[in-house]
Amino acid sequence: MRIVLGVGGGIAAYKVASLLRLFTEAGHDVTVIPTEAATRFVGVATWEALSGHPVSNSVFDAVHTVNHVRLGHEAELIVVAPATADLLARAASGQADDLLTNTLLMAGDCPVLMAPAMHTEMWQHPATQANVETLRSRGVTVLEPASGRLTGADSGPGRLPEPEAIFTAAMALAGASAVRSAPAGADVEPDTGQAEAGPSVVRPLAGLTVTISAGGTREPLDPVRFLGNRSSGKQGVALAAAARDAGARVRLLAAHMEVPAPDGVELLRVETALELRKAALHAAADSDVVIMAAAVADFRPADVSGTKIKKRDDVADPVINLVRNPDILRELVEVRDAASRTQLIVGFAAETGDAGGDVLDYARDKLHRKACDLLVVNQVGRDKVFGEDTNSVVILSRTGSEPQEASGSKSDVAAAVIDRISAELSRVVPPA
Ligand code: C5P
Repeated sequence: MRIVLGVGGGIAAYKVASLLRLFTEAGHDVTVIPTEAATRFVGVATWEALSGHPVSNSVFDAVHTVNHVRLGHEAELIVVAPATADLLARAASGQADDLLTNTLLMAGDCPVLMAPAMHTEMWQHPATQANVETLRSRGVTVLEPASGRLTGADSGPGRLPEPEAIFTAAMALAGASAVRSAPAGADVEPDTGQAEAGPSVVRPLAGLTVTISAGGTREPLDPVRFLGNRSSGKQGVALAAAARDAGARVRLLAAHMEVPAPDGVELLRVETALELRKAALHAAADSDVVIMAAAVADFRPADVSGTKIKKRDDVADPVINLVRNPDILRELVEVRDAASRTQLIVGFAAETGDAGGDVLDYARDKLHRKACDLLVVNQVGRDKVFGEDTNSVVILSRTGSEPQEASGSKSDVAAAVIDRISAELSRVVPPA
């Protein structure tokens, strides 16, 4: 595959030399386009030696080849790392003041992945976030930066994701767009570079897009109060990491979480059930798998006060009226079925048994009502599941196959769920 590797002017440029190595060792043909500032961190000689191609950052070099047009048209994948705040801003506003930004404008349908790296304040600045949103709305995959130690003494979100994580996300993106752009019925093997990467790496979800919701929604009562739940988001985050490691392009729809999102995934933050519904329906439209691991509030306050509700001695204490939230999982299944789309939908259930039945009785009933393909069931109690690092689940399938148990760390459980999804997908027959 022909890859253009754009390198921004940040200290993390040195890590991109390893990323370039991963691409070339997997057999890809990589042309590096550093920005002028990037060459202050890592010199042109390094990029030329590692890529085996001449390197330039100016549209005025090799003018007779009209470099930016050729590179933009020939690229099958463009990866930009580190994507600095400046580079994101230039790309979002469509500027074309060096070879890399010119090439980005010439890229057409070519998938583009950007891996940001910068100080936390710069990443969280509304200007940067607006640029990221603009790029994402145009179909650019902008990864979340990793959290940890930054260049100075500071730490927080802003680190460049590890080269292996960027490599995996890039291969997933390229594979997904190869599958999507293939004519119906064509037998396309997503180009994952795996043949060259070595037989030890198994990526059963390569080329697929997986949307995962995680955490607990918060339903506002007034500007300072909300109705929430005890979900930590740990299981959803573990699922996102497992799906990413299985080669998928992962979109994480994160309600309130106590843990950071894993790197190498696309993150969208939501607060309420209604926001999650909108994000999930949108993301599901081009997802192969949707996993609803979020704890979605079944009810929300009927009225949200625009000002803080005060306690007053002269009026009665307020009563909170609740209205029902839409069942997102059920709606996802309905939309999929109405469109006759091939998509695997996975629900989660937190159940307790009672005199009317045990956990599995209630879970089977829920699987029937929600009509999703798989239901991952855990038994909850005051000291079980929520916020814990371990979990014990039973996976129920609509096809009626035997319930499958999985337990251990939330990563172990996530790996079992992803394995099961991979196995189910290999059985799915596309609609005629
Ligand atoms: O009905 P219950 O909340 O037990 O169902 C749990 C499953 O349904 C989870 O997968 C959860 O993400 C999803 N859900 C939903 N919309 C709701 C409530 C739950 O998608 N309003």
